[in-house]
Amino acid sequence: MNVTEAVLHRRSVRAFLDQPVAPELLREAIELAARAPSGGNVQPWKIHAVAGDALARIRASVAERIQRADPDERPEYAIYPDKLWEPHRTERFELGEAMYALLDVPREDRAGRMRQFARNFEFFGAPAAVFCYIDRRMGPPQWSDLGMYLQTLMLLLRERGIDSCAQECWSVYPRAVASVLEPDDGLMLFCGMSIGYADPDAPVNRLRAHRLPLSEFAAFHGFD
Ligand SMILES: Cc1cc2nc3c(=O)[nH]c(=O)nc-3n(C[C@H](O)[C@H](O)[C@H](O)COP(=O)(O)O)c2cc1C
Repeated sequence: MNVTEAVLHRRSVRAFLDQPVAPELLREAIELAARAPSGGNVQPWKIHAVAGDALARIRASVAERIQRADPDERPEYAIYPDKLWEPHRTERFELGEAMYALLDVPREDRAGRMRQFARNFEFFGAPAAVFCYIDRRMGPPQWSDLGMYLQTLMLLLRERGIDSCAQECWSVYPRAVASVLEPDDGLMLFCGMSIGYADPDAPVNRLRAHRLPLSEFAAFHGFD
C-alpha cells in the first residue's frame, strides 16, 4: 500500500469486529508514528495504549460517571469554537446527518442519537485504543504536532489492515480515563482513538465523509 492508498483507505470506523489486534502490530505502529515531524522536534505526544482489562475498566469507569453525571468531570478544552461559521458549520452538520441517515435514526429521535453518541464511550466495540496526552504547558503549535502523530499512526495502522477512529469526546471525561491510566501529573487528555477491524456489515461504516473542494481551502500563487 502506498501513501496515497493509505490516505484514501483510512476513514473513521464506528463499528468494530470482536477481533483482537496483535499487540506487536500496535506497538510497531505506535513506535513508527513517532517519525512524524514536530516543531523543534519536541515530540510532545504522550501515548497510552489499552486493550483487554484496562479497556474494560475505562468503559466501566466512564459509564459509571456518565450515569451519575459526575460533577468532577470537566472537559479538558472546548472542542469547537462558539458558533462555528461557514463552511465548517455545514460540514459538521452534514456529517451528523449523513451518519444518522445510515443508521436510520431520524432527527427527532434524540434518544437514538444519544445512544449512537454513547457508542463512542464503548470504543464502538473496538478491542484496543490509544489515548493521546500532552503536557498542559504546551501551546497550539505543539497541539498541531499531536495531529501529525495521530494521522501518521492511523495511516500506519491502515497499512497493517487495521482501522481506527480518533475521538475527541474522551476529553470530556478525563477523570474516568485517568482513573485507569494514571497519567503523569500535568498532562492533559487530548483525545482517544478506537482501534480494531471494521465490521463490514455495519451501516455506519458506509459513511464517507464529504470534503470541501480544493478551491475552498487552497490558493495557488505564481504557478503559471
Ligand atoms: C482529532 C479528532 C477527533 C475526533 N473525534 C471524534 C469523536 O469524538 N467521535 C467520532 O465519532 N468521530 C470523531 N472524529 C472523526 C471525525 O468525525 C472524522 O475524522 C471526520 O468526519 C472525517 O471523516 P473520516 O475520518 O471518515 O475521513 C475525530 C477526528 C479527529 C481528527
